[in-house]
Amino acid sequence: PHTAAPTAERTLVLVKPDGVRRGLSGEVLRRIEAKGYRLAAVQLVHATPELLTQHYAEHAGKPFFGSLVEFMLSGPTLAVVAEGVRVIEGFRSLAGATDPTTAAPGTIRGDLGRAWDGAVMQNIVHGSDSPESAAREIGLWFPGL
Ligand code: TYD
Ligand code: MG
Repeated sequence: PHTAAPTAERTLVLVKPDGVRRGLSGEVLRRIEAKGYRLAAVQLVHATPELLTQHYAEHAGKPFFGSLVEFMLSGPTLAVVAEGVRVIEGFRSLAGATDPTTAAPGTIRGDLGRAWDGAVMQNIVHGSDSPESAAREIGLWFPGL
């Protein structure tokens, strides 16, 4: 039986300021590459409030929004475009659940995330959650790519 060749897609991964500060950028890239995904673009970015307001538009108005933006301004972020078959869902699976206190062992957040008392979760990475989000977020962090 014939099946169509699986098509590669792209996702936006961020190693957030906590991950960069803790020296985990290489570990995140290693896990992406070990899974067989390709790095299509990598850049260290010090985000602006404008960029973050657009990136996190879906969370505008939520109680944690202000703290989230402030945290994301606290240092550089490593922005990554990763490419591969079902990489959007696949990277979310590598990242694990949003809250590091419950993220499964074996995942980036489960293995490396710490529980903090702060107002915002510091969970090391971001990964786009849909093809629409991926296209929008790649356009924001890598204009012209
Ligand atoms: P969200 O998009 O829900 O999670 P994910 O990163 O897994 O897609 O939330 C975006 C970020 O906002 C999340 O990574 C951490 C932060 N956050 C909080 O600080 N408190 C919260 O209650 C939620 C839901 C998210
Ligand atoms: Mg999200």
